[in-house]
Amino acid sequence: MADRSKGGGIVKKISTGIDGMDKLLYGGIPENEQILLAGGPGAGKTLLSFEILYRNAKNGVPSTLISFEEEPEDIIRNAKSVFDTFNDIDDLISSGKLAIEKAESYERIYQKGDDTSNYSFGHIVSEIEDMLSKNKAKLIVIDSISIVKLLFPDVFSYRRSMMSLTQNLRRLGVTAIFTYELQTSSRQDLKFTREFFMFDGVIILYQAEDDEKRSLVAEVVKTRGTNHSWVLSPYEITPEGFSFMTVN
Ligand SMILES: Nc1ncnc2c1ncn2[C@@H]1O[C@H](COP(=O)(O)OP(=O)(O)OP(=O)(O)O)[C@@H](O)[C@H]1O
Ligand SMILES: [Mg+2]
Repeated sequence: MADRSKGGGIVKKISTGIDGMDKLLYGGIPENEQILLAGGPGAGKTLLSFEILYRNAKNGVPSTLISFEEEPEDIIRNAKSVFDTFNDIDDLISSGKLAIEKAESYERIYQKGDDTSNYSFGHIVSEIEDMLSKNKAKLIVIDSISIVKLLFPDVFSYRRSMMSLTQNLRRLGVTAIFTYELQTSSRQDLKFTREFFMFDGVIILYQAEDDEKRSLVAEVVKTRGTNHSWVLSPYEITPEGFSFMTVN
């Protein structure tokens, strides 16, 4: 879909399958680009990623989540428990349209004596590419980039390697979401780190609070080459999926 609405530009976009989120993104995630989905602990990064992949898989887009930490069966179990109306998760997985994979590279992080400076970034790239080739995924989630970062000995090799990964994904025609763990859940305390500059788009999930309770709020910070909503959108996680409010 070429979205020209509301200054969305002529960038082709992939619908997230979530109405309110597509409105925030003026149509969806720019196709063949990489976006950062950042948030504090429990903001819903993994669940939101799962729902986007689930809805795209349902629409025929082969979609893969690559987890660097959680076990796929735990991710699937949690998603089924939260989204109890999503009754075709198993069918989508067995048909290959939806894949939830664990990256083995993760195990290397904790291997004592493993010299991460010699750790070949090629391993991660080829592992990711192998996983994508299984179902010819066009939409992927890397959960999380914060864990991938631990594989690199210094900022320079991390950034250089990430650039090479994102170039490879672009070459493969893959649209990617990288989740990223924020040290703060509050918008006021947020400090931009280099990850905010490395990706084509940035979405942040905050936890706002008053004296009574905490609430969840989403914001699109940037999408290169296309506009997006500038509202702060409260959201809820419901059995029917994520529900974004106050979207203009
Ligand atoms: N049944 C439910 N209904 C609504 N919200 C739920 C339900 N179950 C869990 N949640 C919310 O979802 C959050 C977990 O979501 P998720 O695992 O996606 O977070 P995350 O941002 O990936 O966290 P982490 O940084 O720890 O990986 C919980 O902290 C809780 O607030
Ligand atoms: Mg998570």
